[in-house]
Amino acid sequence: MNIDFNPTPRQDEFFEAFHDPSKRELLYGGSAGGGKSYVLWVIMLLKCFEHPEIRIGLARNTLVDIKRNTMVTFWEIVNNWKIPKSMFTYNSIEGYIKWWNGSIIQFYELRYLPSDPNYDRFGGALLTFGCIEEAAGVELKGKDIFKTRLGRWRNKEFGINNKLLMTCNPGSNFIYTEFYLPWSKGELDPYKTFVRAKLSDNPHLGEDYREALASLPPADRSRLLEGEWDFDTDKARLLKYDEVNAMYEVHPDYDPEGKLYLSADIAFQSDKCIFILWQGLTIIEIINYEGDEPDKELLRLRDKHAVSPSRIVYDADGVGQFLKGKLRGAIAFKNNGQPLKKENYENLKTQVYFKLADKIREGEVKIKTNNLKDDLMQEVYEIKSQPLETIDGKLKLVKKKDVARIIGRSPDISDAMAYRMYFELKEYRKPF
Ligand SMILES: Nc1ncnc2c1ncn2[C@@H]1O[C@H](COP(=O)(O)OP(=O)(O)OP(=O)(O)O)[C@@H](O)[C@H]1O
Ligand SMILES: [Mg+2]
Repeated sequence: MNIDFNPTPRQDEFFEAFHDPSKRELLYGGSAGGGKSYVLWVIMLLKCFEHPEIRIGLARNTLVDIKRNTMVTFWEIVNNWKIPKSMFTYNSIEGYIKWWNGSIIQFYELRYLPSDPNYDRFGGALLTFGCIEEAAGVELKGKDIFKTRLGRWRNKEFGINNKLLMTCNPGSNFIYTEFYLPWSKGELDPYKTFVRAKLSDNPHLGEDYREALASLPPADRSRLLEGEWDFDTDKARLLKYDEVNAMYEVHPDYDPEGKLYLSADIAFQSDKCIFILWQGLTIIEIINYEGDEPDKELLRLRDKHAVSPSRIVYDADGVGQFLKGKLRGAIAFKNNGQPLKKENYENLKTQVYFKLADKIREGEVKIKTNNLKDDLMQEVYEIKSQPLETIDGKLKLVKKKDVARIIGRSPDISDAMAYRMYFELKEYRKPF
């Protein structure tokens, strides 16, 4: 074995704070790729090598995230330091790494589980110290209960202080209110340490990591690339006002020969029931149907405009179910379905929304009717992404109920517009 740790100045700061008995809670937070997980592992490994039979808790929102992501850095260090496989066993099912001298790194899931709201699953755990990876995704209660399990195993004997070490990307939960905000005002509790991570701290990082970050949505780029903590909700918008407005400037290149499409957000009574008739990517007509037979209305529009069933898409959740038998060949859109082409979106609906934003930004979506113009523009302008918790996290939109709270109604027009993008994702091509 060849232990070779060459810390960056920030990692050194974190490492020092670990050895400072007055510091009990340490957070290393900021941009992605700053070397946070690396130094966390270095501390865990060195302590396991130094002392027999200590117990370190390694926690994250889900065990799957520890096994898939956090473990990658472990294997990297095993490789760098040439740690012989005979020195440890890794049990990926139960989630622990046990060392030859009896020391153990045990994994914990901090995710809130309705079946275990008080985290009784931590009940018997007695730990020397603990680490939380990616604390931005963690519930306050999970963190607080995890903390009560620390400092309970051979601390005095080995002179190891009760510590909670955490890493994170910028976020808005307790890491913001308990660490970043007081730190930025110079009012951080004396028993806490906050080390601010920046990508530029880490000279060990490859160019491909930087490139992956550069392709993120703008708001996430400033958080994850620059380590910016104050999340700018304006930057979370997928579209600028001018880009939304430009849909109404119909250009002469509008294609009157384009195929007709129908996209629909179906509802009985409570929400608006919206039908959109498209020619190619140009909206010809928007219908806000208020009757109580939306299924018949959809069939009527199909017949009136002779739209091929294979170019009709409707919301299949809830009341849309009703249409299945009546509209053979049409696409019954599943909001919560798997994204196409295994792309990294939370679900199919998020994927079509991102696609809609791309098409609008590129000037391909046009609107030839002024019906419901104000509502439509407001809904499209409110399309916002949620801050990513980690660089490899799934892209998510701000939740429909939160959008509804801002605009005072459900965004049914933009939903119906987004469904149309299903055909663009499927790369439907005009037959020659
Ligand atoms: N002191 C170091 N010595 C050698 N390599 C390092 C060191 N610190 C970081 N690295 C390298 O930089 C890479 C990124 O570091 P790390 O994964 O710790 O960043 P991170 O801040 O946890 O990023 P993320 O926000 O994506 O979780 C590591 O995989 C490793 O290759
Ligand atoms: Mg990390």
